[in-house]
This record gives sequence, structure tokens and C-alpha cells, in this order.
Amino acid sequence: MKTIIERIDTVQLNIDTIKKAGDILKSGGLVAFPTETVYGLGADALNEDAAKKIYAAKGRPSDNPLIVHIADMEALGKITETIPEKAIVVAKKYWPGPLTMIFQKTNAVPLGTTGGLDTVAVRMPEHLIAKEIIRAGGGYIAAPSANTSGRPSPTTAQHVEEDLTGKIDMIVDGGAVNIGVESTILDMTVEPPMILRPGAVTKEMLEELIGEVAVDKTLIEPDSKKVPKAPGMKYRHYAPKAELTVLEGDLLRVTEEINRRAEEKLSEGFKVGIIATAETAGRYSSGNVKCIGTRQDEMTVAGNLYGILRDFDSDGTDFIYSESFSTGGIGSAVMNRLLKAAGHHIIHV
Ligand code: TXA
Ligand code: MG
Repeated sequence: MKTIIERIDTVQLNIDTIKKAGDILKSGGLVAFPTETVYGLGADALNEDAAKKIYAAKGRPSDNPLIVHIADMEALGKITETIPEKAIVVAKKYWPGPLTMIFQKTNAVPLGTTGGLDTVAVRMPEHLIAKEIIRAGGGYIAAPSANTSGRPSPTTAQHVEEDLTGKIDMIVDGGAVNIGVESTILDMTVEPPMILRPGAVTKEMLEELIGEVAVDKTLIEPDSKKVPKAPGMKYRHYAPKAELTVLEGDLLRVTEEINRRAEEKLSEGFKVGIIATAETAGRYSSGNVKCIGTRQDEMTVAGNLYGILRDFDSDGTDFIYSESFSTGGIGSAVMNRLLKAAGHHIIHV
């Protein structure tokens, strides 16, 4: 398959590109496009055959349900059985934005889109290109992250090209995304509502609006034998090719321990990568040191995480050592992805 790649300006939208993307989606094809979280791989969510193509292109297990993307509130009624009052409150504040909510689905949504579940995940992104493509494509666009299953999610169109060129109809290149980790997933079918995946809309932000919010225990106790409620969270996602170890504890001791381990592996002839921060980068004496952002603003860390993991992959890195981050705010989304990438290999120093 030939993949059309078109660059589009975020300020002066090229209507022809949007229309081309919309036509491909309406005829059952696959289009990758930017959202503010990560790039998505879109297909018509109400067309079972189109949604199925997503699984083939990504190599995604078919029990892993897709998020349906909408562009306005009016679209919600057709695909959801009931909309709880709390969901309306949350939507008013955080839609459009980096938040997905789960509802009971109607028959309009095929089981092929929801991985056989009778619930549907819905997100209204804020990114202008995403909104326009959703509208042009018919209003209901299923879109997982536009990566090959098991690779870090794409935060640039180049990442999408690496994984999906030749497998999808079109890539709309709108430049780098601004958040860099996937949306928060909030299950509205349970009481209290439950976070199934942490993201930029945090537990604290949601609780301020609607009171108690639960968190899927398997996110906090990753070693527990329980299966996560979001089917996709059980796979070893976001996996770099290198063996990744996260070190936690007093920052000075963490950097010392990373230096010690890095030197050991280097002397054995391995390629070593280090995930450092602006505050610590100068303390590392060897290895390929990449600065992921500043501890003063962990949004910068979220923005660079997946790109850095991909860079280490293309450098042929064997071992990666990373500092750890806070467990509040966006830090919990970062730590969730980092620990999954590490296969929960964390060392307390
Ligand atoms: O930021 C995002 O959410 C990006 C952009 C493209 O919108 N999309 C994304 O999709 O991250 P994906 O497919 O990579 O992740 C969707 C997650 C999976 O873990 C999936 O299991 C879960 O959402 N999910 C989808 N529908 C669900 C449902 N009905 N019940 C529970 N979990 C669900
Ligand atoms: Mg994904």
C-alpha cells in the first residue's frame, strides 16, 4: 500500500488535506493524525471492517478496545446508552482535552470497535487538526495510538512513518504533539468513577470537580495478579528494545548508582543510555546521556519520554538507566509509562 504523507500547518489549515483525510476515513481507510496527547491511527468507528483494519496495521490484539473520538458534545448521544451527571460536569471542564471517558454503548458502536465489550471509550480531543479530521471523517473516529503494538506511542509524524508506512492510507503531519503521553481514562460506568490510565487530567483535578475518584489498583500495585480493567493496560506496552531499569530514592545516590551501573556495562562492551534531567545531567560521567526535561516542570518530561525511548532504540542501546519522577500530577502518568516500559524493573537505592 502506498501511504500518502501530507504536512499541514496548525494555524492555517489546508482544507484539501483535511478533505482528503475525511474521504479516506469515510470510505473505510486508515489515516494517522495528531492529537494533543499522541498521534492517533483513525478509522470510521461505526464501520466494523474499517475498525478491524486498525488491528491488522498495528499488530494489535483484537480484545484491546479502541477509543472513539468525537468533535462535539451532540455526537455523544448516538453512541452512549446513558450519560451520568458527573460525566457532564467533567466534560464541561475537560472536553475537548486529554481525557477519555467510558460509558455503556449503544448498538451504533460495533463490537469490533470495543473489543467485544458493551462499554465504549470516548474522547473529544482539543487539537484543531484532530477536530477537523474527525468532522470530515463522519464524526466518529476510532483511534488508538499510531504505533506498532508494543512500541512507544508516536509523538511526531516521523515516529508514525517509522512504524506504519506502507500499512495505512495516509499520515497527516501536524508537527510534534504538545503533551506526549496518552489521555487519562476515566470509567464512568462505576461509582465512584475510576481512573484506568493516568494522564494529564489528574486524579486531583477530577476530585476537585466530582468528589471521590478511584484508581484501578493494578496501576498502583503492578505486581498484583489482578488484570487491569482497561484491556490494553495489561500488555507490556511502550517497550524499548533495550533493558530499562528505573532507579528511585535520594537523587544524589540515584545518580551515583546509575554511574556505577553504567560504567560496569560499558566495560563489558555494552551500549548504555541514561535518562537524566536538567538538574542532574552534568553529574553523569559516561554513557549516552539524554536530558528528558526539567524536574521544575514535569510536563517537559512527559513531552520527551517516548521520543527518547525511540532514540535509544535507533542508537542500538543495550541498557537504559532512568531516574524516577514524582507520583503526583503528570508525574504519575510519566511513572506509569516508564515502569511499564521497564517491565516494572525498579530499584530503590
Ligand atoms: O491519548 C489517547 O488516548 C490516544 C489518542 C490517539 O487519542 N489514544 C490511545 O488509544 O491511547 P490506545 O488504543 O492506544 O489506548 C486505549 C486504551 C487501551 O488501554 C484500551 O484497553 C482502553 O483504552 N479502553 C478502550 N476502550 C475501553 C473500554 N470500553 N473499557 C476499558 N478500557 C478501554
Ligand atoms: Mg496505545
